[in-house]
Amino acid sequence: MSDIKNSIFLKNLRGEPCDRTPIWVMRQAGRYLPEYQEVRKQYSFNELCRTPEAACEVTLQPIRRFGFDAAIMFSDILTPLAPMGAMFDFSQGGPKLEKPVRTETEINALHTYDPNEGTDFVAAAIKLMKEGLGDKTPLIGFAGSPFTLATYLIEGGGSKDYATLKAMLYSNPELLDRLMTKLTDQTLAYLRMQVEAGVDAVQLFDTWGGILHPADYVKVVLPCVKRIMDGLKDLNVPRIYFLKGSAPYNHLIKDLDVECFGVDWTQDLGRAIDRMGGKAVQGNLDPMALFGTTEQIKRRAIEICEAGTAASGHVFNLGHGITPPTPISAVETLVETVQGFKREI
Ligand code: CP3
Repeated sequence: MSDIKNSIFLKNLRGEPCDRTPIWVMRQAGRYLPEYQEVRKQYSFNELCRTPEAACEVTLQPIRRFGFDAAIMFSDILTPLAPMGAMFDFSQGGPKLEKPVRTETEINALHTYDPNEGTDFVAAAIKLMKEGLGDKTPLIGFAGSPFTLATYLIEGGGSKDYATLKAMLYSNPELLDRLMTKLTDQTLAYLRMQVEAGVDAVQLFDTWGGILHPADYVKVVLPCVKRIMDGLKDLNVPRIYFLKGSAPYNHLIKDLDVECFGVDWTQDLGRAIDRMGGKAVQGNLDPMALFGTTEQIKRRAIEICEAGTAASGHVFNLGHGITPPTPISAVETLVETVQGFKREI
C-alpha cells in the first residue's frame, strides 16, 4: 500500500488501529496565519480560490508551519456556485450575492455544468497540491451540503434567522425541493471531479443543516446528503459528514453510508460515539478554547483524545473553523499535545 494510504489520517477514517491521533483543523489555511495575509495582499479572496498556484501555496502553509496530519484544499463552499450563475462577493466581510435566488424563474436560471469545465481551476489546483504534499500528507476535498448552499443562495448571504428560506419551506416546499435537487446533482458531480483529480478524502460541510426541526431535517436535508454520499461510494475514498449542531440529529444520521462524522463542541465526544457508534469521529474542541491558557488547551485536548479512543477511529479537529484572531502559539500547543498523545493498541 502507498504511504498515503498508510497515513494515520486515512487509517483512522478506515477504523484501523493507530498509536496516535491525527489532527487537522477546519479553516487551517486562513487569516490567523501571517503568511496567508501576505498572499491575500496580492489576490482578492475569489481570485485566490481561482488561481491554482496561489491556492496551492496557502494549502501548504499550515502543513509547513504546524505539521498537520492532513491538508484541506483551499477554496470555499461557495466557489462552485459561480459557474451556476451565482457569484458571491467577499470584499465586505461575509459573502454577499448580488441578487438572491428565490423565485421559480431564478432557480430555473441556475445552470448545472461539467465540473471539469466550470471549475477546471479546482482540478488544476488539486494536482498541484498533491505534487506539493508528496506521499506523506493526504489531501481533503470538500463541498458545502446542498442545504447550506441553499441558505446562502436564498438569503443572499449569511443570515440570523433564515426567514426567507423558512418561509419557502413552510409555504412552497416544492420550490425549495427544486433548488435542492439541482444543488445535489451539481455537488455530487463536483465531489466526483475532486476525487478523480486526486483528493484522498472528502468532507461535506453542513454548517446550517442544524437550524431545522428534526422532521424537516429528515425531509429536506438528509435525502440530499444521502444521495451525495451514496453517489461517491464507488470511488472508495473516505467520506466525512460534518453537520454543525448535530447533537439532536445523531439518531437520524447514524445510518448514513459514510466513514466518519464530524462533531462540534456542543456535545460530549463520548456521547456522539455512543449514539452514532461504529464509525470514525472527527472533532471536537471549541475553537474559542484556543484563547484559554496553555494548561487549559492541553487538558481539554487530552480529554478529547481520550474520549476518541472509544471510537473505531478518531481524527482530532476543532468543532468548527479556527477564527482569525487565534494566537499561533495556541495552535502549536494544540498540535504538540495531540500528536504527543499515545494510544494503547
Ligand atoms: O478549511 C480550510 O482551510 C479550507 C478552506 C475553506 C474556506 N472556507 C476558506 C475561507 C473551507 C473548507 C471553507 C468552508 C466554508 N465557507 C463554510 C463551511 C464551514 C464553516 O466554516 O461553517 C462556509 C459556511 C463558508 C462560507 C464562507 N466563506 C463565509 C461565511 C466566509 C466569510 C466569513 C469568514 O470567516 O470570513 C467565507 C470566507 C472564507 N472562506 C475565508 C477563508 C480563508 C476568509 C476570506 C478572506 O481571506 O478574507
